[in-house]
Amino acid sequence: MKAIVVHPPKPGVEYMELKEPVRHGNGMVRVKILENGICGSDREIVKGRLTTARPPPGKDWLVLGHEAIGVVEDSADPRFKPGDLVMPINRRSYNGKCLNCLVGRPDFCEAEEYVEAGMVGMDGFMVEYYYDDPKYLVKVPENIKDIAILAQPLSDLEKSIEEILTIQRRFVWTCDDATYNCRRAIVFGTGATGTLFALLLKTYGFEVYMANRREPLENEAAIAEEAGLIYYNYTKESIDKLKKIGFDLVIDTTGSSASLIRDEIEILKPNGVLGLFGFPSEGNAVIPFDVFQRFIYKANVIVGLINGQKPHFQLALSHLAQWKAIWPGVTKRLITKIISVNDKKEVINALNEKEKGEIKVKIKWE
Ligand code: BGC
Ligand code: ZN
Repeated sequence: MKAIVVHPPKPGVEYMELKEPVRHGNGMVRVKILENGICGSDREIVKGRLTTARPPPGKDWLVLGHEAIGVVEDSADPRFKPGDLVMPINRRSYNGKCLNCLVGRPDFCEAEEYVEAGMVGMDGFMVEYYYDDPKYLVKVPENIKDIAILAQPLSDLEKSIEEILTIQRRFVWTCDDATYNCRRAIVFGTGATGTLFALLLKTYGFEVYMANRREPLENEAAIAEEAGLIYYNYTKESIDKLKKIGFDLVIDTTGSSASLIRDEIEILKPNGVLGLFGFPSEGNAVIPFDVFQRFIYKANVIVGLINGQKPHFQLALSHLAQWKAIWPGVTKRLITKIISVNDKKEVINALNEKEKGEIKVKIKWE
């Protein structure tokens, strides 16, 4: 059985022939993988830069992959039948005693007892087939299977929005028409996370800017146009303009530069929130005292955004169905590349480097 494996904390990625099938939990459902998505975190692991990555106990390798769609081949659980399309949930807690884990929210695990498929102590889904626990499978509707792979990254963002809206219940954040239409959000970064975040905020009724340090590519301009997003090309100087505009919500998905955080704090309006998604892997965030003072005066919040759970996967799938109906052109532009798993060189290449203009790359198993 073919699998794509890594050796954290060492860099590198390779194809491996497994003798034993991967089995998670009570493993009652046999799932044949149809496709995997590639995400920035996968590349960080391949580069040996994700400090939290580790193989399962007793092994020095780990099956990569936390974004997957599979088809049920065999099931001892009556809720699933052969032919059902399913998506596995990536973060789990098997023997945890943390209360949040016990109620299905290992995204808020307080004991670091969770594991994450393809990342933290649990084999992932870049494998021909495997056995899974029904508790961690979500059914995928047939008519959105072309874009459904996006439900895993989107689940993280559904959770993020739920969290931000909960934080903002500290005062009245809705407008005088009870919507979020008067609230302005900006998302830094136009990769998969940035694009999905911008679309999701738009769905919730925010006015949404998406920002990158260059002119929009054709794909980005078309997405912004159809979904009614405002594309913003920012430079060191034009950040000042953003301060004047002012934002109720700032989302950083760039991860790349800790130094951007200072500017992101400065463009927040009173009571505004800065959400950080994705991991910086270099640099320092230097916040001068006067910026700090204003942050406190403005009652701002900075929150780390991580990992969605089962309700968020389900919400993500229904939002994707909604988007396919209202923004058909946008949804056609979100999958920017499909590579066959047999095309080993291309797959390894894609697992190492992000292509310019990439939103989501899929590996197809055939
Ligand atoms: C995944 C999240 C996960 C995070 C940290 C992301 O790529 O989509 O679900 O919690 O990495 O490992
Ligand atoms: Zn991911």
